[in-house]
Amino acid sequence: MSGDLEAMAQNLVAGAKGLLAIDESIGTCNRRFGRFGIPQTSEMRRSWRETLITTPGLSEFISGAILFDETIEQKASNGTRFLEILAGVGIAAGIKVDTGTVPLAGHPDEKITEGLDGLRQRLERYSMLGASFAKWRAVFAIDHGTPSAASVAANSNALARYAALCQEAGMVPVVEPEVLMRGTHSIQECEEATETVLRSVFVALQLHGVQLEGMILKPNMVVPGADSPNQVAAELVAQATVRCLRRVVPAAVPGVLFLSGGQPGPIATARLNAMNSTGPDRPGPQPWALGFSFGRAIQQPALAIWGGASSERGDAQLSVLHRARCNTAARQGLYEPAMENHQTPAIHPYSAAERTALLA
Ligand code: 13P
Repeated sequence: MSGDLEAMAQNLVAGAKGLLAIDESIGTCNRRFGRFGIPQTSEMRRSWRETLITTPGLSEFISGAILFDETIEQKASNGTRFLEILAGVGIAAGIKVDTGTVPLAGHPDEKITEGLDGLRQRLERYSMLGASFAKWRAVFAIDHGTPSAASVAANSNALARYAALCQEAGMVPVVEPEVLMRGTHSIQECEEATETVLRSVFVALQLHGVQLEGMILKPNMVVPGADSPNQVAAELVAQATVRCLRRVVPAAVPGVLFLSGGQPGPIATARLNAMNSTGPDRPGPQPWALGFSFGRAIQQPALAIWGGASSERGDAQLSVLHRARCNTAARQGLYEPAMENHQTPAIHPYSAAERTALLA
């Protein structure tokens, strides 16, 4: 068993910090730019990623940043490599290594994640460049008859093969099975699907000999569908999520770092806080750290502020820092909605249209 992997995984969850996911594919990043009229060019994507990773004080709240293949060798406008900037402030560099999803044959409404071919060589290259961890995302939609047993089995197998290859390359795998929030399903349906998926993922991880101490789980929170009429309080999300995790996630896993999945930032933060605070309705201490690996729930308000204008970079960075700070507070059960009043005045509240857009 590699002590290095274990130490690296522990490092990612240390100090109540979390991960900043900035690994959107070119298509996804462009789609999000399109909503704010930001030119969909490689230079604008580079500039946005530079804005994020050069946020002053970011390392107080963020332990690692997940990059994308296009980004990992890019440089800031002053010529410094992104990887050097991150290393300079003690933020670990991670890399998304799946190559996206395609329809699962025989199950046209479901997706299988690809990217295993040549992965050993790609991991070797990323590791040489300085990445210490990686990410692979599988997606499961809740609908009539889905997720199917076939999609759960196929995606679990791919996640486990990816995780084993990562550890072989000396990198910590962030294992991301995402039950999507899209739909009208109830929180109970989400809990059932999430439990089924996670149970299968851990069977596959153990089959492939993945060292649980040297990995991170990145799941969805257990929430009602975004279009469900039955939305619930943060306490109920916390209870359902922790109950589900306790049934299936071995205590050897050092950290469960949630994706935000389209939840508005303050809501994701309040739910994370409820999982980490004590009290009669609260779940109490758990064997693993419960933290964050958010993309949209940290980036989205800042992206709206930046809008592609370098003059807005400072305000956008304040917004990033604000959300990161709130999430670090939530990891300790110390977040209060009043913290939102101390945010930069330039932060825009979410409109209904933005909420829909967050899910895209
Ligand atoms: P969101 O927090 O926006 O869901 O992004 C996290 C992520 O890494 C998705 O793969």
